[in-house]
Amino acid sequence: MNLELTEEQETVKRAARDFARTELLPGVIERDENQAFPTEQVAKLGELGFLGMMVAPEYGGGGMDCMSYVHAMEEICKVDASTGVIMSVNNSLVCWGFEQFGTEEQKQKYLVPLASGKNIGAFCLSEPEAGSDATSQKTTAIEKDDHYLLNGTKNWISNGSSASTYLVIAQSDVSKGYRGINVFIVEKGMDGFIIGTKENKLGIRGSDTHTLLFNDVKVPKENRIGDDGFGFKFAMKTLAGGRIGIASQALGIASGAYELALAYSKERKTFGKEIYKHQAISFKLADMATQIEAARLLCLKAAWHKDTGEDYNLSSAMAKAYSSKIAMDVTSEAIQVHGGYGYVKEYHVERMLRDAKITQIYEGTTEIQKIVISRALLK
Ligand code: CAA
Repeated sequence: MNLELTEEQETVKRAARDFARTELLPGVIERDENQAFPTEQVAKLGELGFLGMMVAPEYGGGGMDCMSYVHAMEEICKVDASTGVIMSVNNSLVCWGFEQFGTEEQKQKYLVPLASGKNIGAFCLSEPEAGSDATSQKTTAIEKDDHYLLNGTKNWISNGSSASTYLVIAQSDVSKGYRGINVFIVEKGMDGFIIGTKENKLGIRGSDTHTLLFNDVKVPKENRIGDDGFGFKFAMKTLAGGRIGIASQALGIASGAYELALAYSKERKTFGKEIYKHQAISFKLADMATQIEAARLLCLKAAWHKDTGEDYNLSSAMAKAYSSKIAMDVTSEAIQVHGGYGYVKEYHVERMLRDAKITQIYEGTTEIQKIVISRALLK
């Protein structure tokens, strides 16, 4: 693995960093406070090509590698992890599945507007009783004449109201277990598709997380992706890549908090000197920087596996488990370095601690990552 950034990776990283500073930083505290979706900012992200970074140019994407995606996610999430998850879901959980497994018609109709940022997508797997145990889908999609009849409820759906295109996982034949699960493209506005309650969350409050309800939604047969029964594998393969995005989100939250703590430690004086000159603080900074470096290497290794066609199931789970853990540790220590100031909103680090927690939960909890890791090691 070559860790030296290519010219393209360097350019992407710098563009993401500039965007985060100029477009996301102003208003990030207010968006968190008011649970306001970053509509204008996401539109601009789309224009800059960050919503379909890895999609081939013929489908409206940037044609970039996954390592560039890690760098871009880190820079965006250093400032605003809410915008980061919107970007990650669209890139990893929606565009990737369309590009890998969609038909040419599905790609032209749905992928092109998603990759170019004209539309936003959502990935709908979780249910009230099917979060970690993703095979227990209660949402049903029963085959009728020229369509499937979709019924059920999805929970915790990121981009729940802002999306136009939804990938919905549902059970078509209970007798076949997970081999009876399918994935369908559902459009906003289809009869019987209701966008339900918006969650009032601890963190990533700028992103919109909703319950979705499907009451006798007629989904045309051509909206199924892949062969009959492919839905569970579609979800697992998609999530393996999604975990690189969330690991990079966690990395970004941690490195954003560290940069703020480092800067603060050079300004703030106690006992007659800047606080970084106290070993109590410099040792914290040393630990934080080391953890972040290790997380970045794990994220880049998983991305490199993806870029080179290697199996990235194990490396993405390791990257996510580790990066989300250190995001919690580093943000907590960043507050500690700031002392009382760290506990108030103006200094950003309290938001970063709240944002970090979700990275241990969505796209598979830490415990799920450990199942994936241990199975891969022991098989
Ligand atoms: N790639 C390809 N196939 C895979 C796979 C992968 N990564 N993982 C599993 N499979 C296949 C298996 O090979 C198996 O198929 P065969 O029988 O043909 O070999 C089939 O899928 C079933 O696999 P398992 O027996 O391993 O399934 P399991 O029931 O034991 O579940 C699990 C495994 C890892 C626990 C899985 O259920 C899982 O990942 N759960 C967590 C789900 C999750 O991440 N939910 C988050 C929701 S999305 C979200 O959070 C989005 C957001 O808001 C940002």
